Amino acid sequence: NMWNHPITVDNLKRLRDIAGYHVVAPGVGYLACRWVGAGRLAEPADIVGAAACLRTPQDLAGKRVVVSSGPTHEALDPARYLANRSSGKMGIAMAHAAHRRGAAVTLVLGPTGQPVPAGITVVAVESALQMAQAVEQAAASADVVVMAAAVADFRAATIAPQKLKRSSLGATPTLALRANPDILAGLGAARQKAKAQRPLLVGFAAETENVLAYARDKLVRKQIDVIVANDVSQADAGFAVDTNRVIVIDADHAVHVPFGTKAEVAHRVWDALLPRLNHAPVGKKANGAGAKPAKNARRKGKR
Ligand code: CTP
Repeated sequence: NMWNHPITVDNLKRLRDIAGYHVVAPGVGYLACRWVGAGRLAEPADIVGAAACLRTPQDLAGKRVVVSSGPTHEALDPARYLANRSSGKMGIAMAHAAHRRGAAVTLVLGPTGQPVPAGITVVAVESALQMAQAVEQAAASADVVVMAAAVADFRAATIAPQKLKRSSLGATPTLALRANPDILAGLGAARQKAKAQRPLLVGFAAETENVLAYARDKLVRKQIDVIVANDVSQADAGFAVDTNRVIVIDADHAVHVPFGTKAEVAHRVWDALLPRLNHAPVGKKANGAGAKPAKNARRKGKR
């Protein structure tokens, strides 16, 4: 009742209109006065997030961003699945950074226990087939799709309806697999067929050797614009850890993003993607190892 009272409404309007204040609205729910409605103290993380947005250049305002993240689980039976070591942290960091910079963000998220910041639309999926459907749907109206998910390349040829019993499998069981669709290559092919420029298609390449060469190969094979490559053989980069270092690569440019937290690296990757989103290459001419960070990498240290 206090929040909706005309005097409160009027005072808040004056604060916004005259003094330029920004307002974090209260949470909705059960209140101390035993009413249900708007009036709960906003979650501290939401208050911090709103303040951080105010201090962040809104250079992705108006952009519709789709990010996929996390592993996929490919069921074998009701109790077991095939999976990989992706934690989803890098994709969530990409989604979070885009949200901070003003984008409308949809995150297609495989099974992971990681928290997702408020303000991001989450589509929860389990399998690669579910992820393909969700990403394709969201991509239809996106300016950019960032495939950070570690999509399983194969699924079980058949999913057992009941839990498989050890005794029925024999001493050396074999598992028949069939290929999952390549979601990113599918988006690349569809865009090519439509002779369209959008969405900008960005892949992630987790490699353990020949990082640049394998990443460039994926760029061509999947008909996409940019690959963010990282070497997951290093203990402080890639899977499950909170830090990373990556190379943002397009057809003939490369931007080396130095070691940092995944949040810092995500902002630097968006810095490198921004010119591309506005129809320019990702950075300076690549010469393999020595390419310089993007010009607007001056944000370093501010986040
Ligand atoms: N990807 C996808 N669908 C798949 C497999 C991968 O969309 N079925 C996307 C990933 O999200 C990532 C990029 O393709 O953005 C590269 O993924 P990666 O696993 O490195 O490449 P693969 O094509 O699977 O090649 P390989 O495993 O042989 O390295």
